[in-house]
Amino acid sequence: MLCCDELPLPDLAEAHGTPLYVYSQQHILSRFALFQQALAEIPHTLCYAVKANSSLALLKLLAERGAGFDIVSGGELARVVLSAKRAVAKTVFAGVGKQVAEIDAALEAGILLFNVESEGELALLAEHAEKLNLPARFSLRVNPDVFAETHPYISTGLSAHKFGVDIHAARDLYRKAAHSKWLIPAGVSVHIGSQIRAVDPFGAALERVASLVRELEQDGLGLTYIDAGGGLGVEYTDGPFDPAAAVAAYAQQIVSATAGLGLHLLIEPGRFLVAQAGALLTTVINVKKNGDKTFVITDAGMNDLIRPALYQAHHQILPVCEASAAQKYPVDVVGPVCESGDFFARDRELPPVQPGDLLAILDAGAYGMSLSSNYNTRPRPAEVLVDGNAVRLIRRRETEQDLFAPELV
Ligand code: LLP
Repeated sequence: MLCCDELPLPDLAEAHGTPLYVYSQQHILSRFALFQQALAEIPHTLCYAVKANSSLALLKLLAERGAGFDIVSGGELARVVLSAKRAVAKTVFAGVGKQVAEIDAALEAGILLFNVESEGELALLAEHAEKLNLPARFSLRVNPDVFAETHPYISTGLSAHKFGVDIHAARDLYRKAAHSKWLIPAGVSVHIGSQIRAVDPFGAALERVASLVRELEQDGLGLTYIDAGGGLGVEYTDGPFDPAAAVAAYAQQIVSATAGLGLHLLIEPGRFLVAQAGALLTTVINVKKNGDKTFVITDAGMNDLIRPALYQAHHQILPVCEASAAQKYPVDVVGPVCESGDFFARDRELPPVQPGDLLAILDAGAYGMSLSSNYNTRPRPAEVLVDGNAVRLIRRRETEQDLFAPELV
């Protein structure tokens, strides 16, 4: 029988219902510790990417361990303010379309850095910093034009992508910004994409960033921070995976590319910290055959976990109470949503399952709940955080009243 830490998953399903997101606190903290150990020798701050899993309880947990945050909206800023006010000073704000209300809120809150993504945004930031009489520390998020193997929807480091400013144009922009008394050039940032398994592209991107930092030094512009972004990938299959070795290799790339610059390193991991700490627990509603195919229909749907539908992402699916050595058969595991794209796995070998059985969709802690929706007017799942033999409900299941609350008739 599958457990989260010491707690059997059927007990959690019984107490909280399904679909249910289950996270292991110890797992998240052990991943956090891997980064801290790998970077122990150099000044650094881990700015957790809130978008990966924006649960207030998780933000609080990480902030208590010293994390800062990477945010991309006023909503994410409000989450940090609510759950970990002191970490606002360690928060960086990225995003290609920051709006004026979001810029004002971040200035007033006193975030560490704006990761600015265009010349227009720099002008807007200067204007609002002046209006509020609050000088703005900023980094330019540069686009290094480095390719990293990942799904095209989550690759960001090529000039064909909307992200960042051309690294060749950055020097000029810093020079212009230096004339404004409202803009404080404090760092430089880069993020080349997500779910990147080979670590060399991180090194290649940072080498380009390091050259820029040296050019800026020649211009008399000394920065304080270098922000390497996030993106380190995890293993979604049952193949071999050594998280400590992955973090060590990643850190080595970053540290060697930035050695000698004397800057404070920021990193923005999201997925690596939380993906494998979480599973989506779901109940089989029905098993049906159409022609040659067998469909296992679950009470979770694409609105609860959209990664398979959106990125053809692979998630392992395990019966929670597997009869040992049972013969396996190919099935499609699908949700109840009215779309053929509503699947979790296609032609996946599973032992026979029956209505009422529990399945665990693994590695769903990142970009699971945070990408969920109410499509088909389905209330979002509850979330629980397990710590050893203790469990805490960190988000109750939505009700229909929650869904209708903003509507006017
Ligand atoms: N920093 C920036 C500026 C980012 O845009 C992102 C992710 C991160 C950090 C964190 O990246 P991570 O360490 O989690 O790879 N929904 C997709 C992933 C989208 C990633 C967006 N940006 C998925 O489910 O695979």
